Amino acid sequence: MAQCFYSAHCLSLPPRRHSVNIPNPSNKKIETSGPRVFVVSDLHTDYPENMSWVNSLPSHNHRKDVLVVAGDVAETCANFVTTMSIFKDKFQHVFFVPGNHDLWLRRESIDYLDSLEKLDKLLEACGKLGVETKPSIVDGVGLIPLYSWYHESFDEERDITGIRIPSLEMACKDFHVCRWPDELGNGKTSLAQYFDSLNDKNWNIVEDIVRKCSHIISFSHFIPRQELCPEKRMLFYPNLPKIIGSKYLETRIRSIHGTEGSPSACHVFGHTHFCWDAILDGIRYVQAPLAYPRERKRRMNGGEDWLPFCMYENGNFADSMSPCYWSDYYSANPRTPDNTQLAPWVARWADNDDGYLERTPIIRNPFGLARVEPFPN
Ligand SMILES: [Fe+2]
Repeated sequence: MAQCFYSAHCLSLPPRRHSVNIPNPSNKKIETSGPRVFVVSDLHTDYPENMSWVNSLPSHNHRKDVLVVAGDVAETCANFVTTMSIFKDKFQHVFFVPGNHDLWLRRESIDYLDSLEKLDKLLEACGKLGVETKPSIVDGVGLIPLYSWYHESFDEERDITGIRIPSLEMACKDFHVCRWPDELGNGKTSLAQYFDSLNDKNWNIVEDIVRKCSHIISFSHFIPRQELCPEKRMLFYPNLPKIIGSKYLETRIRSIHGTEGSPSACHVFGHTHFCWDAILDGIRYVQAPLAYPRERKRRMNGGEDWLPFCMYENGNFADSMSPCYWSDYYSANPRTPDNTQLAPWVARWADNDDGYLERTPIIRNPFGLARVEPFPN
């Protein structure tokens, strides 16, 4: 996800205590039959703290395991290669699908023609490192990376009105640091369709996996359904849903897992940095982001010692992940997108003489998005 300015200084939803005694799957030596599948997204290893986290993962535990990386590894190609090399040293199989940060161009020493050229270079680097970017079967488990990009029309819920909201161009740095061929463009449907079409060349492999595998984990960087993001009135940047998801993804996911899903269907995503674990229409949707160091500090369970999340072990998917503040919230509360009354912690920002724009840090530092982090008072 693009860098964000707004933070949940005072998320005033009722506090929910999550267990802090979560077993650390990375450090626990478990005798298992077959590989385990770990998942993580949004590594952002341009932050030294995050690169240290990658380095600190134990090597000895994962010799037979799979790691699924759901995008936003690093902004620079150099940090990307370093990160994936470390993972490949530790895990038997590493799978990757690109996120938006991976295609940023601003700090590259090479003058890429555009972000698609950088994508080609990253995939080439993955090939050399042995990082897998195509659908594959590992010991009976199907693993399916799905290319995607967000489009504005993904957002189908009622807009917040009555406050001044920064434009997508102001709020999202992708618009300034990704470059596309003329016919494509950030936020445009054509860009989302282009990325979706990249999945076509792998679709015969996908169909083979669907025929052969009982357990299938598909994964993308962007989100496939709007219900996997809090409602607009909860967000410091209410237009966030316009720059996070692709409806084409959900179509792909349903053609893999079925319209009704199954107990052995899982989709992993990233980008919004909200931990998430929910079943929607028979498919389990999971986000397990490392996220930015400052975001981890606000989480009740941090993110240092429970990630990567062990999604599959001994022939079964894992029990629910914790912490998942927002998916827990929506498992107990209905989604009411027609209610556009700002949540109190958002209203506190918006309700002032200067207005939304002037009060929020986006004016001083316009390169990111806004979201609320799981941070109950
Ligand atoms: Fe992202």
